[in-house]
Amino acid sequence: MKKRLLTGLQPSGALHLGNYFGALKPFVDLYQDYDSHLMVVDYHALTTIKDPSTLRQNTKDVIRDYLAVGVDPSEAIIFKQSDVPEHTELAWIFECLVTVPFLELAHAYKDKVAKGLEANAGLFNYPMLMAADILLYDTEVVPVGQDQKQHVEYTREAANKFNIAYGDTFSAPKEMILEGVGVIPGTDGTKMSKSYKNTIPLFGTKEEVQKAVMGIVTDSTGERPENVFSIHKLFRPESELVNLYEENKGSYKTLKEALLDDIEKLITPMREKRESITDEEIKSVLKEGAEKARARANAKMVEVRKKIGVTL
Ligand code: AMP
Ligand code: TRP
Repeated sequence: MKKRLLTGLQPSGALHLGNYFGALKPFVDLYQDYDSHLMVVDYHALTTIKDPSTLRQNTKDVIRDYLAVGVDPSEAIIFKQSDVPEHTELAWIFECLVTVPFLELAHAYKDKVAKGLEANAGLFNYPMLMAADILLYDTEVVPVGQDQKQHVEYTREAANKFNIAYGDTFSAPKEMILEGVGVIPGTDGTKMSKSYKNTIPLFGTKEEVQKAVMGIVTDSTGERPENVFSIHKLFRPESELVNLYEENKGSYKTLKEALLDDIEKLITPMREKRESITDEEIKSVLKEGAEKARARANAKMVEVRKKIGVTL
């Protein structure tokens, strides 16, 4: 029997190479060893995205991205959160078990308040919806980035609170921190991130990728352009690169072109695959996934509803 794995994807727009090497690739490398559930968390996204067409587009895009990088829909249950109403139902039940001071310590909420911003109640309850996502499927393994570790701890606490109140029902899931290949640097050498405007797009046009690569900040005092080299390391063994960089010492343009070539070799087939995926295909993958996910979620909720006393 394979262990149950579940992860949630934020439908948050265009991906970059940092997302690919930090999250998508490590996921693609491992998901087939598990009974995998891959879910787009559109209701979580509603805490920030208020424009329906953006939400719709981003939801389709995230599925398209995962299919393009190699997730096979026959090897995983791919679905969206809003298609399985049991998620919000179970979240409510957990919200009635945990306290306000406990939720006030959650990072996403705390950070927002620390910035002087007003959080909506959805953001406040965010960790309990995530707990429901995970616990509905008796998930054992939750692959996430380091930033989500606390949310998995909150999930274990929700399970624990429920079990104490109503008897053993949920088992404790474990996070699997996707290490990828460490922190991927951006075009300026700091962590690649949309908010730093230093990204190399994963599925941009050839021109967009070229513009980003040619814009990598180089430092004429160093032996080699470190910012180019450290991104290049993701594509070729360092031993090969050392020679290439030695032969082309000082010729930053040549080295950037070599990097661009290597990036294009990786991206081109994925980009072509991505462009071939129709909206119909996405809808059909999600429909099939929703049916499978609902069957599992529903079975669990029958048990939960009986235990809490809403089934008469
Ligand atoms: P974000 O949309 O920035 O939250 O990123 C989604 C996931 O992609 C994170 O949880 C990380 O695992 C991964 N990621 C994003 N940026 C980087 C980066 N520069 N280096 C490595 N991994 C990254
Ligand atoms: N909170 C996660 C993030 O921002 C997304 C998420 C929602 C999730 N539900 C989940 C991740 C369940 C893993 C399991 O990335």
